[in-house]
Amino acid sequence: MIVNGKHYKTVWMEGSKVFLINQNKLPFEFEIFTSSTYGESIQAIKTMITRGAGAIGVTAGFAVVQAAMEAPSNDFQAFMTRAISAINASRPTANNLFYATKKIADAIKGLDKEWAVKASSELAQQLALENILEAKAIGEYGNSLIKNGMSIETHCNAGWLGFVDYGSALSPIYTAHREGKKMFIYVDETRPRGQGARLTAWELQNEGIPHAIIADNAGAFYMQRGEIDMMIVGADRIAANGDVANKIGTLEKAIIAKEYNVPFYVAAPTSTIDINCPSGKEIPIEMRSEDEVLVQSGLDQDGNMKSIHVAAPGSPAYNPAFDVSPAKYISGIITEKGIVRACEDDIRTLFD
Ligand code: MRU
Repeated sequence: MIVNGKHYKTVWMEGSKVFLINQNKLPFEFEIFTSSTYGESIQAIKTMITRGAGAIGVTAGFAVVQAAMEAPSNDFQAFMTRAISAINASRPTANNLFYATKKIADAIKGLDKEWAVKASSELAQQLALENILEAKAIGEYGNSLIKNGMSIETHCNAGWLGFVDYGSALSPIYTAHREGKKMFIYVDETRPRGQGARLTAWELQNEGIPHAIIADNAGAFYMQRGEIDMMIVGADRIAANGDVANKIGTLEKAIIAKEYNVPFYVAAPTSTIDINCPSGKEIPIEMRSEDEVLVQSGLDQDGNMKSIHVAAPGSPAYNPAFDVSPAKYISGIITEKGIVRACEDDIRTLFD
C-alpha cells in the first residue's frame, strides 16, 4: 500500500515494538501507533486500533513474541500459557487470531526463553509475510471474476487495512485496476463503526478507484435496479460447511444478492477457515459496546474530532459485531489456493 507516496504495511514488528496504522484515527489522521508490550498489543486489538481478520492475526502473533520477551526465564512456560490465553481473549470471532497464536504456541512448547524468543519471532514474521503473499494471490484469483466496466459492492473493510497489505475482498479489485479494468465500487458505510465509509473509501481514494459510499440499507435498492454486477466481502471465520461469519450486515446483503441474482463472493485466506467448526451455528459472535451504536465521531466544521450522541438519550442499543451468511447464499470462496464452492467437499480440498 502506498500512503502519501510512501510504502506502508498495516502492522509490522521491529525489535520488541509492534507498529500499527491507527485505524481509529483514519481517515482523518494517519498515525502509526507503537505498542511496546504484549498488554498494549492486546489493548490495540480490543479497541480496534488494528482490526480486520488478517491484521488481528498478525498482531496477535507479534503479541506472543512480545510476551516471550517479557516472560521471566524461571517461569517461562506458565507465563506464556497465561499470556496466550489473554491474547486469545482479545476478540473472539476472527479465526486468524487463533490460527496465529496456536501455530506459535505449538512451536515454542517445551523451549526455554532464549530459544522461544528466537523461534516465535521467526514464525511471527513468517506469518506476516505469508499474510501479504496470500492476499496478493487472492487478488490474482479474484481478478478472473472481474470484467471491464463492472460495478461491485463491498461491505466493511477487507482491504490493506484488514491485512498486512493488499486485503481480501479488495485485493481482486486492486489487481483488476492495475490491469487497467474500469470498475465502480459501491461501498456499504457499515454501521456502527463505519469501516466502509471511513476505511474502504479512504483506501479506494488512495488507489484512485471510482466509488461511492452508500447507506447500509441502500444495497437492495441498487441490486433491484440491476446496478450491482457482483458483491465481494471478506470473512472473519468460515465453517467447514461453507457458512461465513463476517461484519454485521453481510447476511442481509447475501440474501438480497440471491434474490436479484447478483453473484456473491467471499474472499479469505485459508487461515480464516476453521475446519474444526462444523457450521456457522458454532461460530462465536462478538457483542460490542452499545456506545458504538449510540455515539458517532468525526470532524466538526472547524476540523476538530468530536463524538456526538446520535440516538434518543436514555435508549439502550444492541451491537452484535458479526453475522453468519449460510453457505447457500455464497457463489464461491476466493482463497490463496483458488476459488472453491462454499461446501464441505470443496473446502476440505484446501487442506489436503
Ligand atoms: O470488526 P472488524 O472491523 O475487525 O471486522 C472486520 C470484518 O468483518 C472484515 O470484513 C473481515 O475481517 C474480513 S477481512 C479483513
